[in-house]
Amino acid sequence: MFTLRKVITYGTFDMIHQGHINILKRAKSLGDYLIVGVTSDDFDFRRGKINVQQSMMERVEGVKGTGLADQIIIEEYEGQKIDDINRLDIDTFVIGSDWKGKFDYLSDYCRVVYIERTQGISSTQIRSQHNHIRLGLVGNAKRLWKVANEAVAINGIDIVGTSGGEHDSCLGELPDYSFNELIDKSDAVFIESDVKDRYEQVNYALNNGKHVLCDLPMSIVSEKQHELLETARQNNCVLMSGIKTAYSTAYYRLLLMVKSGEIGDVVSVETTCTSLDEILKMPEYMKNNVWSSMDAWGATALMPIFQILGTNYMQRRITTKKLDDYFDIFTKIDFVYKHAVATAKVGKGVKSEGEMIISGTKGYVYVPAPWWKTAYFEIRYEDQNKNKRFFYELEGEGFRYELINFLRAINHGRTINYTEDSVINEISSVCEDVYKSKNVEEI
Ligand code: CTP
Repeated sequence: MFTLRKVITYGTFDMIHQGHINILKRAKSLGDYLIVGVTSDDFDFRRGKINVQQSMMERVEGVKGTGLADQIIIEEYEGQKIDDINRLDIDTFVIGSDWKGKFDYLSDYCRVVYIERTQGISSTQIRSQHNHIRLGLVGNAKRLWKVANEAVAINGIDIVGTSGGEHDSCLGELPDYSFNELIDKSDAVFIESDVKDRYEQVNYALNNGKHVLCDLPMSIVSEKQHELLETARQNNCVLMSGIKTAYSTAYYRLLLMVKSGEIGDVVSVETTCTSLDEILKMPEYMKNNVWSSMDAWGATALMPIFQILGTNYMQRRITTKKLDDYFDIFTKIDFVYKHAVATAKVGKGVKSEGEMIISGTKGYVYVPAPWWKTAYFEIRYEDQNKNKRFFYELEGEGFRYELINFLRAINHGRTINYTEDSVINEISSVCEDVYKSKNVEEI
């Protein structure tokens, strides 16, 4: 009887190159059926490989494109190789000679073959030949410092300096420039300035052909938000939304699970984001530098609602508690959709539990506080035995993922759609109403 001799090999396969093709060919020649394990993005992160340029889907496509793999699987966790070898009934495990000795332990389960690496080529080498992006940082020094710290870990990003970060020792050696000067020196900018300054800055940068990563909303006026997205398209620039949460693995997985029906039909989404600045006790001159509830949290709290339920709601009710014409210390926004409801609560002078609950006809998702930087969530059912918990890695409060995605979007000449344009536009429309006290009830 003919038995299929199965071979397996693993790798990141970033920007697939001749070295990869050679090893896949050799591996295939050692059996009848080749299985290729491609590492998941978060597995690579966990093992410290943070500079990978292509997303997992793109890398899988790359391996598929060689036509050599009979099956492709995803490598998600440490120790998976033994599981795979047993589960898939593998005869031979193949890996490059750079790993010599490291996988001898697998010989208890199958034959282990190390294949001579192709000389003179590697993904690392290709990555370092890629153009480096000169990134300028615009905004408040404390926030920029976090970004600068994350960016040094990313191969391919060189920070050229800041604008608005002057007189702050925590930014260390970074030179501070005027805004226009910084734009001249950069290929791309990270903008986390006050909402009222953003439109001019983003617009100027885009019109000078620079890529932009900016917090939401990018303008107090929602019409101008639409305009910026259009300007980016016309100038072939990447304009990416700076909501960190959107790029975290846990959040992204959660969205996919909800959309694939894990909790049935979604009937309610509730989000709460607060932080207490004791704004009420601050002297007048300091209040100018503090972000309002909507400035700080509006976009983050609204994002999951629009991503899960869409932007075609039937009714919206905004209740806000303001300190002055602009500054809300607390805002609650309720939406009624055809088959669902949603509530976002944001606070800057009010404290509450920062959790997210998504309720469905089969169960609910519970994300504990602070949900916007979580690495963990639960799916809960009536029968508690069926509850599932999910843990993911979250490095550098999410800035790292955001920057890597920005870099990828620039290198590949397109935006990877973590936050759709319709979501970005709707977020700014809600923010505008709160800022202008239009269609809102004040308490
Ligand atoms: N490989 C090879 N010859 C090369 C490069 C890689 O045989 N010149 C093999 C590796 O030994 C491994 C597989 O291809 O078995 C996948 O390796 P991967 O880590 O994806 O490729 P590298 O180019 O080594 O990536 P990096 O530079 O990021 O480490």
